[in-house]
Amino acid sequence: VVKADGLAAGKGVIVTEDRAAALEHASTYLPHGPVLVEEFLSGPEVSLFFLSDGDTVRPLAPAQDFKRALDGDRGPNTGGMGAYSPLPWLTDGFGSVEAFVDEVTRTVAEPVIRELDRDGTPFIGLLYAGLILTEQGVRVIEFNARFGDPETQIVLPRLETPLAELLMASANGTLEDHAVPAFSDEVAVTVVLASEGYPAATITGREISGLDEAEQVDGVHITHAATANQDGRLIATGGRVLNVVGTGSTFAEARERAYAAIGLIRLEGGQFRSDIAAAVATS
Ligand code: GLY
Repeated sequence: VVKADGLAAGKGVIVTEDRAAALEHASTYLPHGPVLVEEFLSGPEVSLFFLSDGDTVRPLAPAQDFKRALDGDRGPNTGGMGAYSPLPWLTDGFGSVEAFVDEVTRTVAEPVIRELDRDGTPFIGLLYAGLILTEQGVRVIEFNARFGDPETQIVLPRLETPLAELLMASANGTLEDHAVPAFSDEVAVTVVLASEGYPAATITGREISGLDEAEQVDGVHITHAATANQDGRLIATGGRVLNVVGTGSTFAEARERAYAAIGLIRLEGGQFRSDIAAAVATS
């Protein structure tokens, strides 16, 4: 993986097994600044968020997002077209979802938080670990000092411990007084409604309707991303417009609800993936 400096939306990145192609790509950027060569990590991607007060670390629940624009993980990369949580297939390699979370807490999050503390720059807040489950074990592909989008939309509805308590405890250094946050057994699926042309040439300014009907579907709520009220009409103002979140006791149920609801929303040229969480919808 060769990355040029000053990236935006993945531009300047090449992922290749061809050494000559990598060198050629790098040589076009080198006159303008440094390039970064990274190990290629192959395997499923998992997002796991942690709260930290600078010392104690508490994990939230693992989630997976769908970054490509089109079904079957085709098309350009986007900010995320959907997500689901938890990840039942983690039991295959780790025995249980909890065992996976424990391992990542111990081997990834706690060492990072300790090191930042030792450096005199304690991390207080929300640490987002982007992970790849390679055949050699769990690897970190990125950290962000923020919640992930759209994973947050399906992690928070399952969180039973009040989020405000956890954030307050992170801020005032009392996270160790709090047990590991509790999550409901319900599952959650979110499907993103995007504007026509997203991500390459987004068309904005179109009216959205049908939200009231969509929110009547059992177990569904909608979170807004790029909408605005214009003279009483709801208008799409960006690429990823809103998230339709479906919860349920099974992925089949949560997914059916999310898709039933998004089918009721009208946005000219609006697009969404039809395969979010399809692979787990038998569980
Ligand atoms: N879901 C990817 C991100 O929030 O960066």
